[in-house]
Amino acid sequence: ARTRHYDWEVNYEYKSPDCYKKLAITINGRTPGPTILAQQGDTIIVKLQNNLLTENVAIHWHGIRQIGTPWSDGTGGFTQCPIQPGEKLIYKFVVDRAGTYTYHGHYGMQREAGLYGTIIVLLPNGVSEPFSYDYDRNIILNDWYHKSSDEQATGLSSIPFVFVGEPQSLLINGKGKYNCSLLTTPGACNATNPQCSPHVLTVVPGKTYRLRIGSLTALSALSFEIEGHDMTVVEADGSYVEPFVVRNLYIYSGETYSVLVKANQDPSRNYWITINVVSRKPATPTGLAIFNYYPNHPQKPPPTVPTTGPLWNDTTSRLAQSIALKARQGFIDTPPLTSDRAIVLLNTQNKIDGYYKWALNNLSLTFPTTPYLIALKENLTDAFDQNPPPDGYDFASYDIYRVAKNVNATSSNRIYRLRFNSTVDIILQNANTMTVNNSETHPWHLHGHEFWVLGYGMGKYNMSSDGKKYNLVNPIMKNTVPLHPYGWTALRFQANNPGVWAFHCHVESHFYMGMAVVFEEGIEKVGNLPSSIMGCGETKSYNRPRP
Ligand code: C2O
Ligand code: CU
Repeated sequence: ARTRHYDWEVNYEYKSPDCYKKLAITINGRTPGPTILAQQGDTIIVKLQNNLLTENVAIHWHGIRQIGTPWSDGTGGFTQCPIQPGEKLIYKFVVDRAGTYTYHGHYGMQREAGLYGTIIVLLPNGVSEPFSYDYDRNIILNDWYHKSSDEQATGLSSIPFVFVGEPQSLLINGKGKYNCSLLTTPGACNATNPQCSPHVLTVVPGKTYRLRIGSLTALSALSFEIEGHDMTVVEADGSYVEPFVVRNLYIYSGETYSVLVKANQDPSRNYWITINVVSRKPATPTGLAIFNYYPNHPQKPPPTVPTTGPLWNDTTSRLAQSIALKARQGFIDTPPLTSDRAIVLLNTQNKIDGYYKWALNNLSLTFPTTPYLIALKENLTDAFDQNPPPDGYDFASYDIYRVAKNVNATSSNRIYRLRFNSTVDIILQNANTMTVNNSETHPWHLHGHEFWVLGYGMGKYNMSSDGKKYNLVNPIMKNTVPLHPYGWTALRFQANNPGVWAFHCHVESHFYMGMAVVFEEGIEKVGNLPSSIMGCGETKSYNRPRP
């Protein structure tokens, strides 16, 4: 195994990813940032220099479990003090499992300002994939806002509440196209800027491509399509999938997939690659890229009208695709047949003192000034409320189909402490929001683990019967999973990675509004924390500024 060194500088720079010029957060001048390409077992060392003038930074390595290095998880306020302006931090971790992953800012709402990228971990030498292809290509999807993340965060934490709203554009590999003529003062928008020419994926007729697709949208659930081409799904969040063919791939923020696509259509023309918003009433134009058959001109627009995707509110087909994901024969790691503890998390939209929030079992997370990992390891019991949050909600009387009678929730920094090596079930239960007849999609992401996806259902999870229908034969292992409107999703994982791990909705505004819980397991097995992560809260003095 090798050690791979990266020197990264984080800056604000003017960029025009969708032709509209705005300040974006870049890594070494780029957004999306550089791709980390490594081999299973390699050690990654990222020296991160924060050159932002007034903002802290932290970067999370999404899907990397950080076994033995929980302080490198990069979750600002949970596993480290964020890196202050002008400071640097060295992240060091091992990529122990081949697959497709991502990284992104995990402080404030910096992800949506452009701080994100791809991690590819290749198999060890001599091991091959259980499928074949000629070429490997990356596609990272995002949605894009013209307002600054500061302005958006301010709106979310104000009375009256100002929602971030629907994104202005959808980006494929950092490129989109806003219609500049919609602006009354189009000065900041230039339709001919090469930064916003569509991404081109050139293919050779007859060849098969593995597309590694990741989504790090701030808000949107997406449907990804390549006009006229079938896609065979083979990988999800680093696990092999029992192959199945789709025309459109639903992908939620925080998920990654590999699909195989054969360039087997009429080679005399190009085709559209499209992404469309689903699960919210779309107010964002289709995101476009070009599937270019060599040797046609790469910029030559396809002769067809781009597809607008499936019906945005077709929950049934999204649920069906979620259920279709199974672990691949020959690569099945079966779950324990029973669990030691089940935690049901009711997902609700709430108010606290008039502020809009999201809550789990009526608690909305506000994390402490001393990050959890530090507080627990250093035994600082006054850093956060030591009482456990509830393992369930009022099942008997809560009506998930209606706006709650009392929408008030409580703010909390409590955490779930799990017995080391125990098997834990999580049942995510969706409900109506504060709007009549509305329930949203929440992609839930667990740090530090993968989990088995045991099942999905519509309506209220039934304690006595739904557990009997779990898939214990070939459940897929993932790190991010959707909770569909008015539905439930059941997961199982083993609490076997010493540390403190966030589990949260990957919609950036929802996480910002408290849609998260925290798990601790085996804290006594965590090695000494590097003092470089400790420069805030009660341990501020542990990390003295260097001259
Ligand atoms: Cu990709 Cu805690 O997030
Ligand atoms: Cu959410």
